[in-house]
Amino acid sequence: MSSAIEKAVEILNAGGVVGMPTETVYGLAARVDMPEGLNKIFSIKNRPFFDPLIVHVSDAEQAKFIVAEWSQITEHLSAAFWPGPLTLVLPKNSLVSDLITSGLSTVGVRCPRHQVAQELINKVGVPLAAPSANKFGRTSPTCSQHVRDEFGDEVFVLEGGSSEVGIESTILSVENHTLKILRPGVISVSEIESCLNKVGVNFDWHEKSQNSLSVSAPGMLKHHYMPNRPLVLVSEAHPERYLASQIDLQLSQLPHEVEGVSLIRPKAVRRIFELKLSEEPILAARELYSKLRLAAESGADVIVLVWPKHKRIGEWTAVWDRLSKAASLDLL
Ligand code: TXA
Ligand code: MG
Repeated sequence: MSSAIEKAVEILNAGGVVGMPTETVYGLAARVDMPEGLNKIFSIKNRPFFDPLIVHVSDAEQAKFIVAEWSQITEHLSAAFWPGPLTLVLPKNSLVSDLITSGLSTVGVRCPRHQVAQELINKVGVPLAAPSANKFGRTSPTCSQHVRDEFGDEVFVLEGGSSEVGIESTILSVENHTLKILRPGVISVSEIESCLNKVGVNFDWHEKSQNSLSVSAPGMLKHHYMPNRPLVLVSEAHPERYLASQIDLQLSQLPHEVEGVSLIRPKAVRRIFELKLSEEPILAARELYSKLRLAAESGADVIVLVWPKHKRIGEWTAVWDRLSKAASLDLL
């Protein structure tokens, strides 16, 4: 066992939290059976208790210890997509505390494929609850330095390189035969459908689910993933002076805070950072959060992203979900 993993195990076993790399984003992990560590997650993140945590397991066998039901659908989905960026929301059993689920009768379970996360969960021997390792409402971290920037020396972070996926897991609720996407991610509705169709298992989509942005999970607020400078979405390029005056005016009309997430406002809009993302959705997802952080640290007053309307659906659904929540203004 590497000495870093050993140290992380010690911290977790003593009721502490550690920064854990995963293939989606870095998490802030605590043992599911240690209320002290779970409480630290909420206090370090400034996270409200109504926002439930995802439990990370090493495999499907470990997941079975914490859920009340393991259906055919769950069996096939976990076999197809685990380890990987799919979180299944399933009926929980009594081993999972209300602190983790915000009092819900279900628990979000995910089996990460990052080798460091796998090793950590295996060595601790119990599942780890972990939200993304960022302050509540802010941009998720995709490398260890992002976690240190967020929490400083308060949190020991395991090194795991840059997160390969770059945005959080797809969250799918499985309730009997009804499926519901609670958060879009790189594992898409059509991949889930084709997996279940292939094995001939019956299922339905919750009526609103395929237009996944109309359904949301608890803790999924209007604003989320926000960088430390306002992100403004525009549908086409405009002359900089015109844009600056428009943004200035519209930012001044925003409230200071929405649902507990503060909207950062510059004194004036003088410098604009024009954000550019890959034309390839998988690559855009991978680079999204690190580019947002770099843009926020560039010294510019606002970040502007030209985002055409057609990039909101299909293979862009997950990236668009993050952008629309990270943006202070949408001038599309
Ligand atoms: O990729 C990921 O999922 C990352 C990495 C670290 O695993 N984790 C992550 O956790 O994104 P977090 O806490 O930032 O987002 C978890 C979201 C909650 O905000 C909530 O919307 C949803 O998962 N969630 C968790 N448990 C749930 C439940 N029982 N029912 C419905 N939604 C749930
Ligand atoms: Mg998060």
